[in-house]
Amino acid sequence: MPAGKRILLGISGSIAAYKSILLLRLLVKSGAEVKVMMTPSAKAFVSPLVLATLSKQPVVIELSENDQWENHVALGRWADLMIMAPLSCNTLAKMAHGICDNLFMAVYLSATCPVMIAPAMDEDMWKHPATQENLQKILARGHQLIPVTHGFLASGLTGEGRMAEPEDILASIQLHFDKRNDFAGKNILITSGATHEAIDPVRYIGNHASGKMGNALAASFAARGASVTLITGPATAALPEGMHQTIQVQSAQAMYEAVMQEAKHADVLMMAAAVADYTPANVSPQKIKKQSEELTLVLHRTKDILKTLGVQKSPHQLLIGFALETENGKEYALKKLADKNADAIVLNMWEEGKTGFGADTNRVSIYEKNGTEHHFELKTKKETAEDIVNTVKKMLDA
Ligand code: CTP
Repeated sequence: MPAGKRILLGISGSIAAYKSILLLRLLVKSGAEVKVMMTPSAKAFVSPLVLATLSKQPVVIELSENDQWENHVALGRWADLMIMAPLSCNTLAKMAHGICDNLFMAVYLSATCPVMIAPAMDEDMWKHPATQENLQKILARGHQLIPVTHGFLASGLTGEGRMAEPEDILASIQLHFDKRNDFAGKNILITSGATHEAIDPVRYIGNHASGKMGNALAASFAARGASVTLITGPATAALPEGMHQTIQVQSAQAMYEAVMQEAKHADVLMMAAAVADYTPANVSPQKIKKQSEELTLVLHRTKDILKTLGVQKSPHQLLIGFALETENGKEYALKKLADKNADAIVLNMWEEGKTGFGADTNRVSIYEKNGTEHHFELKTKKETAEDIVNTVKKMLDA
């Protein structure tokens, strides 16, 4: 928990700065001591008076004010954590290149504490190679990225570049301070995302899995010291940081091969991917041209990765499958548990807009082979990942 921790909240010029007010409130409520620093341009987006009132501390903006010099070195050393939220495209670029033209940058360059960043900008700026190069530069310094999300942007467009929600940023901060090393020495293999089954060179059969749950799990395990191998199919969620290795595949067959290659090293195998159950029997080498009124595709069953692992896993390995159901959840979960010889099934009941593919929240139940059941509330996928990781820890320790 951040209670009692000293947090420096850095706000740069972005419309997402309005969310920093809520983040500040959440941090103060959680018991953290928070000081706010802003770039001069951030003042146009959020009032320093509001921030000073909520943090009960003066907000620092200029290197010198009223003939007083602001001690940026002291501020940088005061903090246990510096969180830049929102981090604008411009300030991100300055951080990458060490440009010290305001107090915010002077503090950043003097800071000795860990740094977290929650960028916010329009999609084109976010995806520009210059921004991505700058981002890679600062991540190489060990800063922790709180990934941007997809949605409505200030430009009126919809896309990637929204700052993460304050609750999710708080969860990352909590995780940072709670960071335990209780998975040190453990190898975790996680599948995530969808699969794309080719019909011809330009078409495929796929599903709407976003990879959010699998990637959140991968990040949670890694944050607790595990060595994580993430094998992911196509997904819209950003790839998590801190993986031992990330293997990107397209088809169910490619995912099967990658898992079989890596499985022997794993202590825990978590099959969170939405793998296609069927794949076209023949992939046309050329684009299929439309001809008759109907087109029949013959599909064959894919290899069931979870079931194969259930047959060949060694006794020390924990095998965990996932189920997304719309009805009879427990019954189907227990059936999968038995059919696939898994040690546990994470059941995710589909609820319109709240759970399932693409949602930011989830409500899961975990059914263990020994009959133990765990039921969790509707939470963010990050929090759900923590619940699942905690359950895995108990299973490993049992
Ligand atoms: N899975 C897998 N390989 C496949 C298909 C599924 O490893 N070829 C895994 C998924 O990653 C998940 C679990 O199996 O952990 C889901 O079980 P599955 O029986 O495939 O569920 P559904 O596709 O929902 O199938 P059903 O129609 O039987 O409910």
